[in-house]
Amino acid sequence: MDRKIEELQSVLKKYGQEHLLNHYENLDDKHQRDLIHQIELVDFELVNSLYAHTKKEEKRENDEITPIEYLDKYKLYDDYKYYENIGKKAIKEGKLAAVTMAGGQGTRLGHDGPKGTYDIGLDSHKSLFELLCDNLKEEGKKYGVTIPWFIMTSRENNEATIEFFEKNRYFGYQKDKNIFFFIQGELPMIDTEGKILIGEDGLIKQAADGHGGIYESLVKSEMTKRMKQIGIEWVFIGGVDNCLVKMVDPVLMGIALEKKVTVACKSVVKANPQEKVGVFCKRNGKPNVIEYSEITEEMAEQRDENGELLYGESHILCNLFSVEAIEKMGANPLPYHVAYKKATYLNKDGKLVVPDSPNAYKFEAFLFDAFGEVDDMAILRVKREEEFAPVKNADSAGVDCPKTARALYKKFYHLD
Ligand code: UTP
Repeated sequence: MDRKIEELQSVLKKYGQEHLLNHYENLDDKHQRDLIHQIELVDFELVNSLYAHTKKEEKRENDEITPIEYLDKYKLYDDYKYYENIGKKAIKEGKLAAVTMAGGQGTRLGHDGPKGTYDIGLDSHKSLFELLCDNLKEEGKKYGVTIPWFIMTSRENNEATIEFFEKNRYFGYQKDKNIFFFIQGELPMIDTEGKILIGEDGLIKQAADGHGGIYESLVKSEMTKRMKQIGIEWVFIGGVDNCLVKMVDPVLMGIALEKKVTVACKSVVKANPQEKVGVFCKRNGKPNVIEYSEITEEMAEQRDENGELLYGESHILCNLFSVEAIEKMGANPLPYHVAYKKATYLNKDGKLVVPDSPNAYKFEAFLFDAFGEVDDMAILRVKREEEFAPVKNADSAGVDCPKTARALYKKFYHLD
């Protein structure tokens, strides 16, 4: 073991991360083994380049941004039934699975526990997970199938998530038969000097690598392999925090099949031109999502000949992929975006520091950064009031919070 430690020390020295072993002697055997394992897995070159990235965000101002075509679900007229029938057939044949991304920290909501366990305050007191499961059960019944449900957790919330499902008997779904959990990737958090943080447990402080980690983790955890084994060809990927998410949509599926695209996404039209949301576009000729901060005021106001906003289709994290597209997207690393966050850590004297303002960098990949991997995708505009009730903030924020989501849910299901 001593030799191993010496070897690691020299690697750490090379990268200026020697402090990681400062408290090694104070750890119990298990933690010592875990720390060594963690250090062996860290890609220090990547950590260095991520730190450099915190000093200089990549500028994308030379990219050519152009509008992307979309279809409006309620202006398909005769085509509606046509696409719907194609999609229904594929769903009945058992080709669709759902993936829920539930690895986020939900910091804005401030709930103690995985976000999916949150009760939005309906009379039924159902959690977000149960509301999503209800939807899957209801839709599955329509087509005579059980939609396999894959749930992405983080290392941080995996145990609590599974415990919650156990306690609730998987809401009637069968574990390992039609419900599967997998853990997303993570990256070390670093301080403003580029030093990797040590957490309370004496181990490297890691954080989930963003919803863009979905592709790689689906592949690495062999979920895509499993999907193919059970005949899945299409996967709806959505967030855990939209209580009106429609994971089973034959029209969306029919459009993807008929138009022979491998990705089909839903959008809702911006509430107003200056709304702070990411919108679908083409970037250098490839599908993409552009952040509101990257769009000029003038672009945000531009309209087509029908009076529709040219950049008005918001990305709502409701996307359908072929399994092949997921594999393709999981094969190439995505760029990481930097977030400056509060992180509790052990300082060089082994004292716990609980900061009251941000002190550390966290790195996240965004799911839509992979869209450029495909040449074309279909976009389907749906109605906000039917499909989008996000739970992002605490009620005090007044928007995208439990109160607004509850109201939208009740209205849609006529619960009042
Ligand atoms: P958000 O970007 O809204 O993040 O995630 P969040 O973690 O829920 O909330 P904040 O920003 O900390 O307040 C959108 C969806 O992506 C999932 C979330 O669980 C949510 O369903 N997600 C996000 C992951 O699964 N993993 C991540 O690393 C980040």
